Amino acid sequence: MTPARFITFEGIDGSGKSTQARLLAAYLKSKDIDVVLTREPGGSPGAEEIRKLLVEGAPDRWSGETEILLFTAARRDHLEKTIRPALERGAVVISDRFADSTRIYQGAARGDLRDIVDQLHNAVIGLEPDLTFVIDMDPAEALRRGLARQSGEDRFEELGQSFQEQLRDGFHTLVSDNPGRCHMIDGQRDPNAIAHDVALIFEMSK
Ligand code: ADP
Ligand code: TYD
Repeated sequence: MTPARFITFEGIDGSGKSTQARLLAAYLKSKDIDVVLTREPGGSPGAEEIRKLLVEGAPDRWSGETEILLFTAARRDHLEKTIRPALERGAVVISDRFADSTRIYQGAARGDLRDIVDQLHNAVIGLEPDLTFVIDMDPAEALRRGLARQSGEDRFEELGQSFQEQLRDGFHTLVSDNPGRCHMIDGQRDPNAIAHDVALIFEMSK
């Protein structure tokens, strides 16, 4: 088996993705592995500028179609400037969200736009992670955690709990459709217990 080198964390808002991405990066760094920890939307200077357009402002600011174009534009820049160069030099890339978020948020939960998402992905992105961790948790608890951060980046959290329930269902389907790549992780536990499971799955996937 080839080693898993492009790793993504997915899940609903506030589920603990960033925390777990950071803990996995720290674990790999402690083993002297070259790691690039990055995120979407963002992860390169241009994509971080596009991020502001997406995560701030009124929930109905963009149509689903416009969102797909903006997320994909940000992803293309992230891919060109950060992900590809890191993979080419042999680093492990850990991204807090990637294309599965567009598939679930724009492709399913915000309207049936999955065909557009898939066509655009195939045309300008074309990369799939080697390994994806989907952090699963109760949307009510995740929403409390997320909004408690008061980050000012709550455009999607403001779409409410029923939207987060739809997203959770979408992520469950993603895992059952991609059993080789995607691993469901119970996020309602101590962060270190979750990180232990994540590291174990990473080691087993090599
Ligand atoms: P996400 O990236 O999925 O939005 P974060 O990792 O930023 O989630 O976590 C959201 C909030 O919940 C943060 O304040 C974080 O400290 C806290 N948190 C993360 N993981 C846990 C956990 N396992 N148990 C309790 N709180 C957590
Ligand atoms: P993020 O900063 O990861 O939010 P959180 O920490 O709350 O999970 O992502 C910002 C928001 O953008 C988040 O609500 C999910 C949404 N998003 C999409 O709708 N589509 C996408 O393709 C991506 C990458 C994110």
